[in-house]
Amino acid sequence: MYAYDEIDRTLVNERVSEFRDQVKRRLSGELTEDEFKILRLQNGVYLQLHAYMFRVAIPYGTLASNQLRALAHVARKYDRGFGHFTTRQNIQFNWIKLAELPDALEDLAKVGIHAMQTSGNNMRNVTSDQWAGVAPGEIEDPRIWSELIRQHTTLHPEFSFLPRKFKIAITASDHDRAAIKIHDIGLKLIKNEKGETGFEVLVGGGLGRTPFIGKTIKHFVHGRDILSYIEAILRVYNQYGRRDNIYKARIKILVHELGIEKFSREVEEEWQHIRNSSLQIDDEVIEDIRSRFTYPAYEKLPHMPDELRQAAADTDFEAWRKNSVAPHKVQGYSIVTISLKPIGKPPGDATADQMDALADLADEYSFGEIRVGHEQNLALPHVAKRDLPALWKALDKLGLATPNVNLITDIIACPGLDYCSLANARSIPIAQELTRRFANHELANLIGRLHINISGCINACGHHHVGHIGILGVEKNGEEVYQITIGGRADEGAALGNLIGPGVKFDEVADVIEDVVEAYLALRERPDELFIDTVKRLGVEPFKERVYATR
Ligand code: HEM
Ligand code: SF4
Repeated sequence: MYAYDEIDRTLVNERVSEFRDQVKRRLSGELTEDEFKILRLQNGVYLQLHAYMFRVAIPYGTLASNQLRALAHVARKYDRGFGHFTTRQNIQFNWIKLAELPDALEDLAKVGIHAMQTSGNNMRNVTSDQWAGVAPGEIEDPRIWSELIRQHTTLHPEFSFLPRKFKIAITASDHDRAAIKIHDIGLKLIKNEKGETGFEVLVGGGLGRTPFIGKTIKHFVHGRDILSYIEAILRVYNQYGRRDNIYKARIKILVHELGIEKFSREVEEEWQHIRNSSLQIDDEVIEDIRSRFTYPAYEKLPHMPDELRQAAADTDFEAWRKNSVAPHKVQGYSIVTISLKPIGKPPGDATADQMDALADLADEYSFGEIRVGHEQNLALPHVAKRDLPALWKALDKLGLATPNVNLITDIIACPGLDYCSLANARSIPIAQELTRRFANHELANLIGRLHINISGCINACGHHHVGHIGILGVEKNGEEVYQITIGGRADEGAALGNLIGPGVKFDEVADVIEDVVEAYLALRERPDELFIDTVKRLGVEPFKERVYATR
């Protein structure tokens, strides 16, 4: 966990009183909704279909149990008893009352949580691998660097009035769990031949209306230079980025239009001016941040404790363990993913009671720490293997032990027409229907790893382009129509999916997905050839044939 210092606490508290005053002026009519908009957006407050929506940042997806309890409290006291975890390591509350928002923000500030820069044209929450610091084989805990960037960019003038929102993600593992290739800047921690720590820097990735996979702009930037290098990128973006056309404003468009060579030359030139300035990070600064991350006092534990050996006879436990439990870098410990995708429920939702109970379980079994991943699931990062059976039983009682992590019912979906004022179509009901269709655990297991991603409009909040199966809702002649893509992925081999054919109606989506899956089962070479690999081998044609032959 990271411990905030006095500067952070002061900043977060000042923000609350500032916002309280702004809300007061809006409520008294002194500010119009238009005037208030720019102010509320700076505190993560949107105006949605039914109500104001409040988006809270969870820096690099790490939460302490008392912070999760504070989120539960906000859900219970100011909302309708639940919150929605999103693909950006945020949580959203959909029914919050404006008059109560300052109180909610104040209650969160008490535990060091805020909503700064969760909306608006600035640097958004810096996201990272939800297994950071515990994943075997990672170069270093990437959160140290996420935190450095967070501190540097929070309320920084160069980053506060960008042409458009800006997202950075960092990973330190070969297997990319932070989806760095679909971010404006993606950073991969690496070591150079001298053994020094630095970054491969990618730029210009992003989804939305015009999706791009990020391109490598520099193969190695030394850790001490990373702030100046990012700033150089941002300066070029600030200078050339389109401010006249919202659809062309993201850095991915600039990189595309200038070409990566020209863009990188511009960045290089800018970088030479600022590289040896105060932006160069002293080792002490990094050391200070590193020292503020504390790690649990792990015990020396056996690799295979008796408790786990005995529980292996229970097929229900084994079904859960197989998909939810991952190796930890410390022997005798595991990382446990908690599925927020129960069959028939909206993906990513957690009730206040579940959040409270999970905070208790984190205290009991995971040194008080919880992680939030971009797949809209949570994780307990430090669970002793001997505790796995007891934890599983406790999770099961809370409805949090659905054994579907990484399987076909572990669906990512944006809120769509249920909440979002930009939506063209429903997302959540599609996800719910699909989870019911594939509720049979044996079938889901037989299918294996398969990610379905759903967005209710072209903005791509549900990452549909990079779903193994992507579902995009559009509107055609007043009707919801869904376009299906296959072959996308968000990891180190990131790729955009390809359309399989004309859009289909709401009622047909689940049938079509069943057809696609049946085609895969018939076409795969071996039982362990993943869906994504079959698509790569064969392309869309055989899937297209299967789906449209009878339609
Ligand atoms: C309900 C309120 C929301 C609104 C008004 C909203 C609005 C938008 C807009 C306008 C974009 C396109 C930006 C662009 O390309 O320039 C976008 C993209 C995105 N949003 Fe949302 N969104 C909402 C909720 C969510 C939720 C719930 C999630 C996560 C489940 C999310 C995560 C994302 C992500 C990951 C992108 C990806 C596109 C990119 O590469 O930048 N948003 N959103
Ligand atoms: S993809 Fe569209 S419908 Fe879904 S949350 Fe984003 S803006 Fe709303």
